[in-house]
Amino acid sequence: MNRVADKFNRPLRDLRISVTDQCNFRCSYCMPKEIFGPDYAFLPKGAMLSNEEIIFATRSFAKLGVKKIRLTGGEPLLRPDLSELIAGIANDTGIEDISLTTNASLLPRYAQKLKDAGLKRINISLDSLDTERFAQMSGGRSSPEAVLRGIDAAEKAGLPIKINMVAKLGVNEMDVLPMVNYFRERRITLRFIEFMDVGETNGWKMDQVIPAKQILETIGSRYEFEPVDPDYRGEVASRYRFTDTGSEFGIITSITNPFCGNCNRARLSAQGKLYTCLFATAGTDLKKRIRDGIDQEEFTNFVSKLWISRDDQYSEDRSNGKALNGTKKVEMSYIGG
Ligand SMILES: C[S@@+](CC[C@H](N)C(=O)[O-])C[C@H]1O[C@@H](n2cnc3c(N)ncnc32)[C@H](O)[C@@H]1O
Ligand code: SF4
Repeated sequence: MNRVADKFNRPLRDLRISVTDQCNFRCSYCMPKEIFGPDYAFLPKGAMLSNEEIIFATRSFAKLGVKKIRLTGGEPLLRPDLSELIAGIANDTGIEDISLTTNASLLPRYAQKLKDAGLKRINISLDSLDTERFAQMSGGRSSPEAVLRGIDAAEKAGLPIKINMVAKLGVNEMDVLPMVNYFRERRITLRFIEFMDVGETNGWKMDQVIPAKQILETIGSRYEFEPVDPDYRGEVASRYRFTDTGSEFGIITSITNPFCGNCNRARLSAQGKLYTCLFATAGTDLKKRIRDGIDQEEFTNFVSKLWISRDDQYSEDRSNGKALNGTKKVEMSYIGG
């Protein structure tokens, strides 16, 4: 095992893999329908990494210290061979911790199959239990009931679940407490995500962010809770525990309290480019090297060099007024959230 550290001494532990850039939702903060309409050019199948190519890459990442793989997208359940991919990663890379982020709409069909293939955990996105506001956030596709059916299916399959809720001021701040009430009752961890300036299409403005402080005040108006220590260095959510039930919630504060200093994540896009930051403007083409026939050891060395030269800390630069100007950031649906 050749563990690596970047220029700020951050190890490589976590790999997020976008398995498709397509989605059956059109969330306003991710793939606004005005831009991702019928004419939008998604990647053709041959331009995406195959399962074998993803498994090849993952083996090298595992050698460099990666312990966790998160499969994401786009909507990962739209990839027809997803369970074969999970089985391949579980059986052939040495990685045990495989998780998935999904909008849950297709989970009733696939949850058990994914669990049987080796999936360990699942994060499900749900921004509101209210039909109208759900539609506003997800671009008018699907319904809260369909997502809840997906949650039930994941629960039935025995997958540990976390719920992700993007909080957008002026849109769903009134959903903070109803969501807490509902998931507290079900003993499922709910995590709020501050609306982020990923990509170039979601029209992000600072005044649309519901700061973590406001979310904590809202929850504190109803419930008592206490902070929980992180489980490991680089954990993305600040965690809290309700003092009565002992169940937890979390907040991902990448805007109001960035955590670049501990960021140990690399991201592999569906097209096979490696990005060392969610807010990156350029990635390195791994697919070309794999298709040119690079051997496993050479590939491991190549990725190692990329990580060693990493110096990204976009969110902290943004907080310090140093955010990038004039360079286009890649979209969340492409790089994988
Ligand atoms: C890009 S999605 C991909 C996986 C899947 N389609 C889903 O929605 O769960 C991954 C996560 O990123 C979140 N996300 C997307 N755009 C975001 C933004 N601008 N700010 C904060 N979170 C965002 C989504 O809510 C979701 O929880
Ligand atoms: S957040 Fe997920 S469900 Fe929503 S548009 Fe993006 S990829 Fe699709």
